[in-house]
Amino acid sequence: MASKAFIEKQERAIPVQQDPDVLSAAARLAGEDLCSIADLSSGEVRAILKLGHDIKVNPREYRYALDAKQMVLMFEKASLRTRLSFETGINTMGGNAIFVDHTSSPLGERESVADVARNVERWVDVIVLRTYAHDTITEMAANSRVPIINALSDFEHPCQALADFMTLDEHFGRVKGLNFTYVGDGNNVCHSLMMTGAQLGVNVTVATPRGYSPDIEIVTNTREMAEANNCELKLTQDPQAAVEGADAVYTDVCVSMGFEHESTRRAPIFRPFQVNEALMQRAASHAVFMHCLPARRNAEVTDAVLDGPQSIVFDQAENRMHAQKALLLLLLGGLSNTPSFKL
Ligand code: CP
Ligand code: NVA
Repeated sequence: MASKAFIEKQERAIPVQQDPDVLSAAARLAGEDLCSIADLSSGEVRAILKLGHDIKVNPREYRYALDAKQMVLMFEKASLRTRLSFETGINTMGGNAIFVDHTSSPLGERESVADVARNVERWVDVIVLRTYAHDTITEMAANSRVPIINALSDFEHPCQALADFMTLDEHFGRVKGLNFTYVGDGNNVCHSLMMTGAQLGVNVTVATPRGYSPDIEIVTNTREMAEANNCELKLTQDPQAAVEGADAVYTDVCVSMGFEHESTRRAPIFRPFQVNEALMQRAASHAVFMHCLPARRNAEVTDAVLDGPQSIVFDQAENRMHAQKALLLLLLGGLSNTPSFKL
């Protein structure tokens, strides 16, 4: 739900059609890939949020912006939110989605990833991939002339993070200066959240068990982004200290897809990192609880928190569609088909 602060901010804002972040993103991103949040400048991240907000309020403006565009989704892992939010997103802008289930035959098995790219680009306008190996995504991008979108790899989940910060913006009426705490596995979702937060001027704290901290390359990138945007990244193994005074507390599953065989070993390691009512009490009284979903109920988060008044998890899920519509419009040059934009 949009907050009063967000509604007031929107009333004061420059119309999205004249917004410099949106106009430069439209010029620079057409034809580009989104493999990682690191592919986007801070202005481009802001542009996706601003356009996402406008699409959410004025969907009819964009009804035919991707008329007849073809999008293929090739997924090696299960999905509810990502698949449906991409499919509904492109369908409501006049395009079409084709789903290819790769859960039982990974990409690159029947023929090389490069050959898949060289075929598929002849028929479609954008390729959305959910893979185990992040290299499958970068290899597809290196061999495809149409944009590639990372819909989750073992390294990042950029579309999730864009929707999540759009949701925080809606809730608080701003993102810059917020204190955002991630508790749990320093994995794909955590990586994309760290960089997106830093690009938006958010102070990010990450609390992980020893041995599950975020990748060092992501930490280095995030620190550089944070320095440029006057915010901080803190890493800790103390979840209690990490959430102290936080505006938002976020967790992800403690056993990601592909790690199911580690379930028993991980359970005691992640137990002290569970987000429960006692942990939430240490955050600011106005704090929100966030989760990318699906959740393992009463493992990384208790029912009381997930279903409680601070939880905004279904707003996050809804905003996947709006943020991805913004992304598709920018990568496919769709704003030039939108009458109110003079590009
Ligand atoms: N959050 C998310 O990506 O959900 P799915 O795995 O259901 O797509
Ligand atoms: N980290 C989780 C996210 C699911 C949306 C996974 O990779 O399974």
